[in-house]
Amino acid sequence: MSLKSPKDFFVPLAVGAPAPLREIPARPSRAIHFFDPSNPKMVDKIPQMVGTVDVLLGNLEDAVKADNKLAAREGLVKIASETDFGPTQLWTRINSLDSPWVLDDLTTLVPAIGHKLDVIMVPKVQGAEDIHYIDRILAQLEAKAGLERPILVHAILETARGVAEVENIALASPRMQGISLGPADLAADRKMKTTRVGGGHPGYLVREDPPKNAAGDTEINAQRSTFQQDLWHYTIAKMVDACATAGIYPYYGPFGDITDVVAAEDQFRNAFLLGCVGTWSLHPKQIEIANRVFSPSVEDIKHARRVVAAMGDGTGAVMLDGKMEDDASLKQCLVLVELAEQLAAIDPKLKEQYDAIELPEEGA
Ligand code: GLV
Ligand code: MG
Repeated sequence: MSLKSPKDFFVPLAVGAPAPLREIPARPSRAIHFFDPSNPKMVDKIPQMVGTVDVLLGNLEDAVKADNKLAAREGLVKIASETDFGPTQLWTRINSLDSPWVLDDLTTLVPAIGHKLDVIMVPKVQGAEDIHYIDRILAQLEAKAGLERPILVHAILETARGVAEVENIALASPRMQGISLGPADLAADRKMKTTRVGGGHPGYLVREDPPKNAAGDTEINAQRSTFQQDLWHYTIAKMVDACATAGIYPYYGPFGDITDVVAAEDQFRNAFLLGCVGTWSLHPKQIEIANRVFSPSVEDIKHARRVVAAMGDGTGAVMLDGKMEDDASLKQCLVLVELAEQLAAIDPKLKEQYDAIELPEEGA
């Protein structure tokens, strides 16, 4: 157990640094769209993407070639300085803490564009000590740059030890904004035998029991249905619990098969249903999927509002369409209604759809 007083969590870690936040604001972040700031073709598209995606993330880590690391860092400073991001958040993914680039990433980005950066994503986090390192150095750099609000930190869950320590990571600092699943690095670190970036695997399945023939013998070679299982269920569920405990936000991560928009949608929806608020987008195609999947459906909001209306003061039980609703189902409905309100505030199309919902006359 740590001997740090809970009161001291909210003392800035450097003289002159902004005070840590007591609550992480619930800002929509359905899609975190990755771009490579060293790629001029991608960078040219960024200003038009403002307002079409909740988060734009300048990626400095994996997928940026070693020879382009400096160009990516400088490219991010340039695009961030020249662009008005309006309602769209700007995040970056820095290089890993053991890399030769990370210190320069931080000492360049915070003074130059710290006032525009909402969140810094830290890859390959192993434990709370990695967050503590970033926490202190950000406080020092923020103080030096005269920043007025703290930059938040997001950890990628992509090492076996990180998964084992996920609660400690989530609770390591008031700067912690959220955690994403990093299935590609995590698979390698755990020595899983997959070769994909996120998603399922046809070999990871269960098979229905064999039928018996007329003589009562088991026919193991008969046609038997198989059901693919979700390789990521355990990790996502563990991450969601850690994030909910810490009052921060969980995310799916990359889904590498850009062409398979159907399977991407399934993985994103599983994550949404389990409690995640968003996912990464590696291609503009995935933004549309994420915005749809991580927004409650009109049907869900209609039902949720009916339950809220029927439950009056929120206690007791009522029957709606033959189903029992009570305090606990009301709380689930309120999660959806609150999320819909947050999303409607930044997404006019969604607001129109939610505003058009008409509730039936109950009891009629
Ligand atoms: C993401 O960074 C991953 O490794 O999946
Ligand atoms: Mg990774």
